Amino acid sequence: MDQLGMHSGLAEGALTLGFVRATELAAIATSEWRGKGDERAADSAASDGLAIGLNVMPMRATISLGEGTHSESDTFGVGHTFGTGEGPDVDLAVDALEGTTLCAKAQNDALVALAASEPGGLMRVPAVYMDKIAIASGYPEDLIDLGASPTDNIRALADAKKVPVREIAACVLDRPRHAALIEELRTVGCSVRLIGDGDIAAVIHAANVFHESVDIYMGSGGAPEGVLAAAAIRCLGGVMQARFQTNRPDFVEKLQAVGITDRDKIYTARDLARGDVLFAATGVTNGTLVEGVATNKGSYHTSSIVMETWSGTVRRVSTRHAR
Ligand code: FBP
Repeated sequence: MDQLGMHSGLAEGALTLGFVRATELAAIATSEWRGKGDERAADSAASDGLAIGLNVMPMRATISLGEGTHSESDTFGVGHTFGTGEGPDVDLAVDALEGTTLCAKAQNDALVALAASEPGGLMRVPAVYMDKIAIASGYPEDLIDLGASPTDNIRALADAKKVPVREIAACVLDRPRHAALIEELRTVGCSVRLIGDGDIAAVIHAANVFHESVDIYMGSGGAPEGVLAAAAIRCLGGVMQARFQTNRPDFVEKLQAVGITDRDKIYTARDLARGDVLFAATGVTNGTLVEGVATNKGSYHTSSIVMETWSGTVRRVSTRHAR
């Protein structure tokens, strides 16, 4: 929405179901690669399916953020365009397969995710890591602070919730780089839910709408996934902060290449995903956010979630597709 209260072409364009169809198509295309141990094939099936779904939509969509941190597919290179060429201009961020390893191992929580915005709404970030922290809405924006210690953030959240620290559940990616964070969280006394992959869903869970057992997300993960998660947080409500990691020379180079020089800036969800924003995801494998594709003799069944800032809706879409 602009300063005059006018909605963008994205909101006016009635594109929501089209985006869901696209993520559904990608999830179905990827489903046959579940458990086959071939991450590249799974990723490429997801990208092809998503591209087909996006290309039939009446829009002029430009990729501002293509693929997750580990993808090798170049279908969604920055600047690539999708859609019929008629209809509104929109920007897209896609993670055609979030949790490539999860899909290849047929483990829970692999999904297809995309975010759409009015032009210029999604921050263009390179494939580097960001430190992230997220909680539900209903607290002051400054309750958590990426610049403060994990201990201070957990204590502040426990105080605001009026519960003992031991009742706070933090979600963290299970990575060696998080050893000190995990140790500190255990020392302060909260519960730590470790996940193998998939921090978009983890940030969404911290917004607490679907997953009561996560109170806060903490740790570093992909910057592209951070923008997608920020889009979801904008739709759901919630507080999220993120900051680029600059502890590796290749990260610094990648950030400089796209003109990001302020190393210490802490970004809010609104900095990463501005204006009218839509977020859609369809499950590939069963997960905590959406169910995976169910394959029957004559049909597929998909489970999706789609949300929009302009309407404030969060929809679950359950679809039967004839094979
Ligand atoms: P992919 O689907 O691109 O493999 O990403 C999975 C993921 O777990 C993301 O959710 C997360 O942001 C990123 O990987 C973390 O990166 P790393 O695996 O290098 O810690």
